Amino acid sequence: MPTCATPNASIVVGAQWGDEGKGKWIDILASKADIIARFQGGNNAGHTLYINNEKIVLHQIPSGIFHNDKISIITAGVVVSPVQLLKEIEEVQRVAEISPKNFWLSTRAHVITPWHMYLDSLFETNAKNPIGTTKKGIGPTYADRANRTGLRIASYIDNAQYNQWISMMCESQPGFKDHIQQNQSLWTEFANAASEISKYATEAEASLRKELKNGKKLLLEGAQGTLLDLSFGTFPFVTSSCTTSGGALASIGLSPKCVDKITGVAKAYITRVGEGPFPTELTDEIGKELGRKGNEFGATTNRPRRCGWFDAVAMRYAADINGFDDIYLNKMDILSGFKTIKVAVAYKHPKLGNITEFPACAHILKEIVPIYEEYAGWEEDISSAKEFSQLPLNAQRYVRALEEHCGTMVSYVGTGPNRQDAIAVPH
Ligand code: GDP
Ligand code: IMO
Ligand code: MG
Repeated sequence: MPTCATPNASIVVGAQWGDEGKGKWIDILASKADIIARFQGGNNAGHTLYINNEKIVLHQIPSGIFHNDKISIITAGVVVSPVQLLKEIEEVQRVAEISPKNFWLSTRAHVITPWHMYLDSLFETNAKNPIGTTKKGIGPTYADRANRTGLRIASYIDNAQYNQWISMMCESQPGFKDHIQQNQSLWTEFANAASEISKYATEAEASLRKELKNGKKLLLEGAQGTLLDLSFGTFPFVTSSCTTSGGALASIGLSPKCVDKITGVAKAYITRVGEGPFPTELTDEIGKELGRKGNEFGATTNRPRRCGWFDAVAMRYAADINGFDDIYLNKMDILSGFKTIKVAVAYKHPKLGNITEFPACAHILKEIVPIYEEYAGWEEDISSAKEFSQLPLNAQRYVRALEEHCGTMVSYVGTGPNRQDAIAVPH
C-alpha cells in the first residue's frame, strides 16, 4: 500500500561542504509545499533567511516556519538541543506564529545533553587531528544513539524515564556522575526545558504519513552537505549523520516511492568550515577576496569559511550519490569582478595520475592537485538582474559550463540573499 497518494515529496540537500544557501531556498520553496521537515543534523546547522529585510538564522527549526499555513517538523533523524530550541522558538515568535499546530517535534529524535556537548569539546581538545566540529555535541549524541544509550525526546519529557536514563548513564559512563555534580545549573536548565518542549513533542512521522496519504506535499530540508556525509563525505572530517537524499528517507521513515524531486544547492564557488581536505582551496588573495565579498563566516560558529574555486569533480559525485534532478546555484553575484574564474574538472595525483572520480580517502584528496579550466569573468554587478538573459554573457557561459561539467542542469541562479534574488535558467 503506497505511503503517499502520489509521489510528492521533494528533497533539498547541500551539494558541497554545507552553507550553500539551503535555508534561503527552503524558505522560497516552502510556499509550494504543505509540510517542511528537517531530516538530520542538529544545531550545528545555521540556515540564514531574510524575512522582511530582517536576517534570521535557524539552527534546528525548519526554514519553512515563516509560512504560517504550513507545518514544520523536526523528524526522527535530527538531534535536538532543547534549551537552544526554546531560544530559537522565542526568536521565531517575534516574526511568525509557532505553536504545536504548525510545529511538530518527533518523539523519536535524540536529545543533545550537556554531557554530549562536554564530550564533543573534550574530544576536539584532546585530538591529535581535530575535526573542527561546531562543539554542539552532535557526534557524541549520534554515537549514543548508535550505542543504544541515547536519550530520545519521548524519554526526556517523561520524568520517570528521564530519571532511569540518568541512573543508567551514571552507572555505565565514567565521568557522567561527576559532570552532573559539577555542572548543576546546566543540568537543571536542561531538565527544566522538558516541560515546554513537551508541548511540541508528538509521533510526527505517523501524522506525516497520514497527511501524505491525503495528498499533502512534503519538502525535506537537509543540513550540512554531501561532502560532510558520514559515509560518503571526506571521512573522518565529516559530520555524524547522513546528509544525502537517501538519508532523508531513512531519517524520516518514508518510502522512496514518495519522492518526486531531488535538488542540490551549491555555491558558484565552494567553501568549507572546519578541518579536512579541500582540493580547490585558495589560501591566496583570491580566496581572501571570495571570503570578504561573500561574507564567508560560519552562521553557527562565526568561524571564517575557507574558500575555493568550484569543484566539478566533487559536484558530479554529489549529483551521482543524491540523484540530483537539478542544481540551485547560489552566490553568482559574488563572482562579479574576478578577471578569470576557474573550475576543477579533474584531479592529478602524484602516484595515481589523473583522477576523475572523487576519492574515498581523505589522505588521497589531500595529495591531489586540481586540474582547472578557466573562464573569462565579468565586471558587472548582477544583483539586480531578473532574467537569465540579463546576466553578462560570461556569467551565462559560466553557468552553462558548470552544467556541462556536472552533467546536471542548473535550474536557478542566486544573485543575493533575499527571497526574490533568484533567476530561472531556461532549458
Ligand atoms: P545554509 O546553511 O546552506 O542555509 O547556508 P548559510 O545560511 O549558512 O550560508 C549561506 C549564506 O549566503 C547566507 O548568509 C545567505 O544569506 C547567503 N546567500 C544565499 N544565497 C545567496 C546569493 O545568491 N547571493 C548572496 N550574495 N548571498 C547569498
Ligand atoms: P549547514 O546546515 C558547514 C562541519 C563542521 C565540522 C564538521 C563536523 O549550515 O550547512 P559537527 O559539529 O557536525 O560534528 O562538525 O562539519 N559542519 C558544517 N559546516 N555548515 C554546516 O551546516 C555544518 N555543520 C557541521 O564545521 O567541519
Ligand atoms: Mg549554514
